[in-house]
Amino acid sequence: MKAFKIKENIYWVGGIDWDLRDFHGYTTERGSTYNSYLIVDKKVALVDTVKHYLSDDMVERIKSVIDPSKIDYIIAQHVEMDHSGSLEKIISLAPNATIVTSPFGEKGLRQHFPSIKSYKVVKNLETLSTGKYTLTFILENMVHWPDNMGTYIQEENLLFSQDAFGQHIASYQRFASEYPEGILFEEAKKYYANIVLPYGNQVKKVLEQAKPLKIEMIAPSHGLIFDRYIDKICELYEKWANNRTDEKAVIIYDTMWDSTKKLAHAVSEVFESLDIPYELCNLKVTNFSNCITRLIDAKYIAIGSPTLNSSIYPSVAGFLNYMSGLCPKNRVGFAFGSYGWGGQSIPKVEEILKQLNFDVIPSFSCQYIPFEDTLDKLKKNLADEILKRKDSK
Ligand code: FEO
Repeated sequence: MKAFKIKENIYWVGGIDWDLRDFHGYTTERGSTYNSYLIVDKKVALVDTVKHYLSDDMVERIKSVIDPSKIDYIIAQHVEMDHSGSLEKIISLAPNATIVTSPFGEKGLRQHFPSIKSYKVVKNLETLSTGKYTLTFILENMVHWPDNMGTYIQEENLLFSQDAFGQHIASYQRFASEYPEGILFEEAKKYYANIVLPYGNQVKKVLEQAKPLKIEMIAPSHGLIFDRYIDKICELYEKWANNRTDEKAVIIYDTMWDSTKKLAHAVSEVFESLDIPYELCNLKVTNFSNCITRLIDAKYIAIGSPTLNSSIYPSVAGFLNYMSGLCPKNRVGFAFGSYGWGGQSIPKVEEILKQLNFDVIPSFSCQYIPFEDTLDKLKKNLADEILKRKDSK
């Protein structure tokens, strides 16, 4: 196992997690990487580590370049254990190394690793010279933990962005230019939707701070390194952070006896008739993280739930809980569903959409089975409401 040179004297020494399929609830069908970087200068710096079970891979890659005992600084950009999980291991090999981290980083790391004592805490835009390189630390508070921090090397126009701009992709390739563009951006979108979405205002602050910097390469802590597409990924982050959507709909539902499914398909016919692209997500076969990815750029979010035990159907309730935590904004919401007698689920779904400050279209419910006349009524009511909200361009 060897290091991969990304610039003269700067190497990727991370770990590839080919088997990862669940990242705290986020499905990672393509695995992931934990990107650790080695800067070999007068002083040697390691940027982040890897998940604990890949520490041997990281050490082997470092050893292909230098003796790990020569590491002077370990730049701990994030406390979360996919990046800090091998800190103790590397410190055992580099006992004189100082951990460089943000103020929240120090607090969090001390609570994870009481044995580690030697910290250098840096402020926003503080610099550290390693010899010929000047590292500038950019605090990325709450993108997505309080302690996230990026590191910019001005001599190389290189930004280590930490979790920002990441994608959960395990691959042999290290550079975005070598990887299929469509998959790269789909995974970047999924990552933003499931990890970064609640923190749009903080993302905007970081993008603002990065604006004056000349950036030719973005090296995130997961997935491919952006050696191209810099403008494209920054523009997408700006769009997502501002909750700017397209004329697109996502219909997310579950069903007991196919009645709510019939309503969901009727809802899709409305969008089709209005030339609004849509996706139907049946929660029996679509996991939460893929549903969220689909709604990241969708203006219309329709949620269908049967009533079970006087409440929202469990899968739909779970999804609404997940979506509420991720806090999408500026959407048009619509609740619908079939019920047997109580019908309590529909107003409950509608209430959750209102709590998210969506522009909520009056809900539609149907007792037992929706026949043609009921479906026609749904389609007419919904089409009228969508037309009031549809962009005219
Ligand atoms: Fe990749 Fe927030 O850890």
